[in-house]
Amino acid sequence: MCGIIGYVGPRVAREVVVAGLRRMEYRGYDSAGLAVIDAGELQIRKKAGKIANLAAELDHDPLADTRIGIGHTRWATHGRPTDVNAHPHVSQNHRIALIHNGIIENFAALRLELEAQGITFESETDTETAAQLLGVEVAKGADLAEAMRTVCGRLEGAFTLVAIDSTEPERLVAARRNSPLVVGVGEGENFVASDVAAFIEFTRSAIELGQDQVVEVTRDSVTVTDFDGNPAPTHPFEVTWDLSAAEKAGYDWFMRKEIYEQPKAVADTLLGRFNPDGSLKLDELHIPEAELRSVDKIIIVACGTAYYAGLVAKYAIEHWTRIACEVEIASEFRYRDPIITGTTLVVTLSQSGETADTLMAIRHAREQHAKVIAICNTNGATIPRESDAVIYTHAGPEIGVASTKGFLTQVAACYLLGLYLAQVRGAMFDDEIARVMRELADTPPLIQQVLDGLDPIKALARRFVDKQSVLFLGRHVGYPVALEGALKLKEIAYLHAEGFPAGELKHGPIALVEEGIPIFVIVPPQGRDQLHDKVVSNIQEVRARGAFTVVLAEEGDDEVVPYADVLFTLPRVSTLLQPLVATVPLQMFACELATLKGYDVDQPRNLAKSVTVE
Ligand code: M6R
Repeated sequence: MCGIIGYVGPRVAREVVVAGLRRMEYRGYDSAGLAVIDAGELQIRKKAGKIANLAAELDHDPLADTRIGIGHTRWATHGRPTDVNAHPHVSQNHRIALIHNGIIENFAALRLELEAQGITFESETDTETAAQLLGVEVAKGADLAEAMRTVCGRLEGAFTLVAIDSTEPERLVAARRNSPLVVGVGEGENFVASDVAAFIEFTRSAIELGQDQVVEVTRDSVTVTDFDGNPAPTHPFEVTWDLSAAEKAGYDWFMRKEIYEQPKAVADTLLGRFNPDGSLKLDELHIPEAELRSVDKIIIVACGTAYYAGLVAKYAIEHWTRIACEVEIASEFRYRDPIITGTTLVVTLSQSGETADTLMAIRHAREQHAKVIAICNTNGATIPRESDAVIYTHAGPEIGVASTKGFLTQVAACYLLGLYLAQVRGAMFDDEIARVMRELADTPPLIQQVLDGLDPIKALARRFVDKQSVLFLGRHVGYPVALEGALKLKEIAYLHAEGFPAGELKHGPIALVEEGIPIFVIVPPQGRDQLHDKVVSNIQEVRARGAFTVVLAEEGDDEVVPYADVLFTLPRVSTLLQPLVATVPLQMFACELATLKGYDVDQPRNLAKSVTVE
């Protein structure tokens, strides 16, 4: 949700900034812009549309070679995605250039106040208010850092701000509240950015800024204070992945690359988390076992794909721990007055660790004295920092807007947590836990087996390229898999798609079934005979009404053969682990279909990877 970068150092700033923006384009691609300081004057270039438009503008109208620069790629909130509304925004006195990620909630009142002082606004954005306020403060004699602290004290909402002052070509100043910002610490050069991907090419040393902090950055120094100017604690960390992980490595899309990375991502998530005897060790879970034993309710809170991972996890966690487990969409959570006590365990799932709805849910849960465990893929992000404990999914950077390895690793991490709770509470025998852990540890090669056999799914995408609607059916853990399959199609192939619990079909959705409609059905393993047989009946019901059935069933399941127009076989795993193999073909189907339709798979319209506004 907007990517921002600032640079001070010996390199040509515009080159560093544009390269960083390209790596963060997944965060927003409605417009892009940058600002540098040349001979005491701000130079700005900005364009609506993707970074390619900005790059063309720079070719046409180049910027000077400078040693300081800031840049922004936008996901529009206030004001349409036009050149004028693109960031950076400049103060009326032409001293300040500012970029912003977030929403300034009280911007309308501040704008009226500034207009009454004779300030004329150029754009429709909330951001320009902050740029103008900074301009007013520096005109009164404040230095840029003082001005930033004063202005931040007046802003309400969520913001990361990065500003430069034309009179100070050696320093940039940034601030954050509720939106992400990391500092990249190089040798004789420093960076600020929404995401380490922006500067990973130059340094892997980073500092995560805390809530309500201001950072002053020169090429040789990084100074962090709170909004009152007091020195503030910092959280340095080393990025554990390198530039190659943030590049496409020969794939056409990040999404496709990330689908293929899933065996490793799941293996890395499981790595080091169990002992040779099969018992679990979650050393990072700094919550006393006595507290985990007293938990009487679990609430999983997440958004989008992460929410569906939570729906899968509920089945396993309840089955293994016998603790009641609810799953809640984060944006709904705190508005319905949920019943939370000191013995409620809230588990949040977030790939980015920055999703605003999930973050607000955490804050609400902790205010009610619940313990919060974050399952997250991004080291040092806000959600893990504000939680009582964190289990990191070691998926590596996920850049495609459509989450893939994020989903599988969230499911795997939830399973680790469920088994650990069962272990601590004595809800399962040790040998049972060891057996499930062994099975979980065996899934990466099975996921690879699915990846190696995806050709029929690719052919299917060619066959369905003109379809108007696709349905997905599943039961038990197959139901969230169906929801996830449908979400992938909606978000990248812009195709109407719905996921239903197969048993619910005859209560309404079956009316949607018409001649030729593709229906994907995830069939539970035959071992769960009742469920399996009921789903087989559901396939017959839709086929009798003209549906074209694509059946995903375990190898050796002959019962489904007569009812499958296309059969995709899945490796044999137990029911609870089936989502780890069954989701993969659905991800690839969406990726193929969107590619055939000529859509930008990694940057689907209207979306952004990390949703940092509510
Ligand atoms: O970073 P998070 O896991 O918190 O993101 C949650 C959702 O925004 C995300 O899963 C979204 O639904 C994806 N675009 C789905 O592919």
